[in-house]
Amino acid sequence: MSKLKRFAHNSLIPIGSLLARFLPDKVPITFVGVDSTRELSESIAQMQIEKVLVVTDSVLVELGLVQKVSECLERAGVASVTYDGVLPDPTFTQVEQGLALLDQHGCQAVLALGGGSPMDASKLISAMATNRVPIEKLEGMMKIKNAPMPLFAMPTTSGTGSEVTLAAVISDPVSHKKKFFTDPKLLPLMVGLDPSLTLGLPPAITAATGMDALTHAIESYISKSATETTRGYAKISVKLVFDNLDRACQDGKNLETRRAMSLASYYGGLAFTRTSVGYVHAIAHTFGSYYKTPHGLANAIALPNVLEFSLPACEAQLAELADDVGIKGESQARKAEEFIAAIRQLMQRVAIPFGLEDLRPQDIPAIAQQALAEAHLNYPVPRYMLQGECETLLHEMLVG
Ligand SMILES: NC(=O)c1ccc[n+]([C@@H]2O[C@H](COP(=O)([O-])OP(=O)(O)OC[C@H]3O[C@@H](n4cnc5c(N)ncnc54)[C@H](O)[C@@H]3O)[C@@H](O)[C@H]2O)c1
Ligand SMILES: [Fe+2]
Repeated sequence: MSKLKRFAHNSLIPIGSLLARFLPDKVPITFVGVDSTRELSESIAQMQIEKVLVVTDSVLVELGLVQKVSECLERAGVASVTYDGVLPDPTFTQVEQGLALLDQHGCQAVLALGGGSPMDASKLISAMATNRVPIEKLEGMMKIKNAPMPLFAMPTTSGTGSEVTLAAVISDPVSHKKKFFTDPKLLPLMVGLDPSLTLGLPPAITAATGMDALTHAIESYISKSATETTRGYAKISVKLVFDNLDRACQDGKNLETRRAMSLASYYGGLAFTRTSVGYVHAIAHTFGSYYKTPHGLANAIALPNVLEFSLPACEAQLAELADDVGIKGESQARKAEEFIAAIRQLMQRVAIPFGLEDLRPQDIPAIAQQALAEAHLNYPVPRYMLQGECETLLHEMLVG
């Protein structure tokens, strides 16, 4: 029975990701570089928008980044109101709070300022501003009827690529399960990639979010839905991460390196939003709902083990990525193995552990079940994983 399931899955692509191939190939207008905050602010003003809701978190207020952006908006003639209540892995509650503030101040647009959490919350706030239904009704594929309020994004981490994806991940505040919202209408209109906003990112967050970008690119590259275009985006992202993540962790104030990581995240987002992700993300999302593990860290821990499992079905692709980052090997198989080894070496250099401290052996069967349910419904993974195989992988991620 299990073998039959594996055969059926290997011959099919989940319907959602098949549909994603036919979505319009839109990319937001993007400003890149230290002038991009000003350029984006001026472009918002040119759209006759007088007041925006800046959606962010309290850390970014403390760091002075919100003030920097608000002042830039003001100089361009755009007033702003700040909602700084977003927490990592935002919940429906924060979306509702942001929406209430937007209504109270009569804002005409939403500007996401932050990592994936503020960006995802912003996507839903702008969608709910024009679709007055309970948030649950917007969950799933293509459930957003009316065009959202204009949405702009300025990422301050380099990982999720949410600024260019059609997706938002918001958790249910009661069950803490991540809920997925996918719709081309969630794509921001314009993006500002200002590397100066990422200069203060601590090494641990730089490392974890950078590994998220790498995971997007690799899972997209080996996806059964990959196209020539998405493979091109993924290759750019993988190379940028391999060339810059170490330096971004050691010398966070280097603008060139930060710029490269912003682009790595951006291209990773462009790659995976068409192809979807895979088992690494399915496991990472489940770690997130069980233990609140930061998204990038959870991905990094699962990545090498999942790639080892997937190897028989994606050896050629991993060997191609190895070529791109200058890994030598006498055969395709050797190069693919060396590529996985190079990921482990990179993790070691940027101080990411190979196992998850919080993971408890008694949780493993349920975690495997939840992760596989997510993956088999949504992701065009190259090699089907059975419950027992997933449990074995998870056992390898135990610490001690
Ligand atoms: N929509 C998508 O396509 C997509 C893709 C991947 C992940 N996600 C979601 O994104 C979320 C994770 O986003 P994330 O990894 O960017 O983390 P995050 O937004 O939760 O931020 C992590 C921490 O970094 C801090 N931070 C952010 N920018 C900073 C800066 N410049 N300097 C110092 N500290 C800074 C934040 O205050 C926070 O404490 C998860 O909820 C995940 O599910 C969404
Ligand atoms: Fe991710």
